[in-house]
Amino acid sequence: MDFISELKNKSDFIESEIYSYLPVEEGYQKTLFSAMNYSFKAGGKRLRPILIMEAYSLCGGKGSDYIPYSAAIEMIHTYSLIHDDLPALDNDDLRRGKPTNHKVFGEAMAILAGDGLLNWAYEIILNQAVNSDNKSASIKACKAIADGAGIYGMVGGQVVDVESESKEIDIQCLEFIHLNKTAAMIIACMKAGAYLAGADDDTVKKLENYGKCIGLAFQIADDILDIEGDEKELGKKIGSDIDNDKATYPHIVGMERSKELAKDLIDRAKLIVNDFENSEFLASLADYIINRNK
Ligand code: IPE
Ligand code: IPE
Ligand code: MG
Ligand code: MG
Ligand code: MG
Repeated sequence: MDFISELKNKSDFIESEIYSYLPVEEGYQKTLFSAMNYSFKAGGKRLRPILIMEAYSLCGGKGSDYIPYSAAIEMIHTYSLIHDDLPALDNDDLRRGKPTNHKVFGEAMAILAGDGLLNWAYEIILNQAVNSDNKSASIKACKAIADGAGIYGMVGGQVVDVESESKEIDIQCLEFIHLNKTAAMIIACMKAGAYLAGADDDTVKKLENYGKCIGLAFQIADDILDIEGDEKELGKKIGSDIDNDKATYPHIVGMERSKELAKDLIDRAKLIVNDFENSEFLASLADYIINRNK
């Protein structure tokens, strides 16, 4: 089977599994639940839940206990997108091919839908950890996700991203932004999947490094797509970074160098997973990260 059909199969599978964790749209908080579900169900590549699943199976995991973690990471990612699109941040009107959350539900509800998805994600995985037969592995997976999403991870990266608008920052600072706002969540997926499968520290470290390389390359590619991409394919507006005077790889090092750097990172990522058996999918996924059009 070719990689794109395999990716589609995996994303269809994971999507059907993670939908079951969404709140039922009823009760006095119904609007909150509708706003949460709207952005979650709007689409998206489901890359992060797939990464948890792949890290888990690469490390010999055989069960389905990774699924709540896949649901949670996609909820946290979706919250980060809802808040990222707010007028106070990137002020975008289109996401996953649909009007952004605040355009449909208003800013107050979009903020609360983000809060709701973030908290519900932890309720799901902590519930899983409390009931798990392997509490140590479950708690390590919870911690990996919290670290990736937190102030020394995604939130921290978003802060420096916002503060760097209309500033000339150096490449070290730009790398900090991209490693934190984007790679941190991707690293979290690799670690969570590996821990749940009972991987040893050396293996977790290798997968963490793979996540770091593809995560940084993923955001460089995102910066490139913001210039060279197609709005319809991407489902979000092109030129958002230029409108916001963002610090991006093409802006700081130029388009050609950005592509070279992303390619070097992908080559490094592929070398890392080469050490593992049955790593073809993760190797092809690395290539996809920089060759994608959405
Ligand atoms: C977009 O992430 C935000 C970034 C970290 C660049 P994705 O490109 O994975 O968005 P979806 O989930 O497919 O919509
Ligand atoms: C955002 O980076 C990363 C997040 C943590 C949401 P961008 O602001 O470049 O993501 P897009 O282009 O809006 O998806
Ligand atoms: Mg942003
Ligand atoms: Mg944005
Ligand atoms: Mg972007």
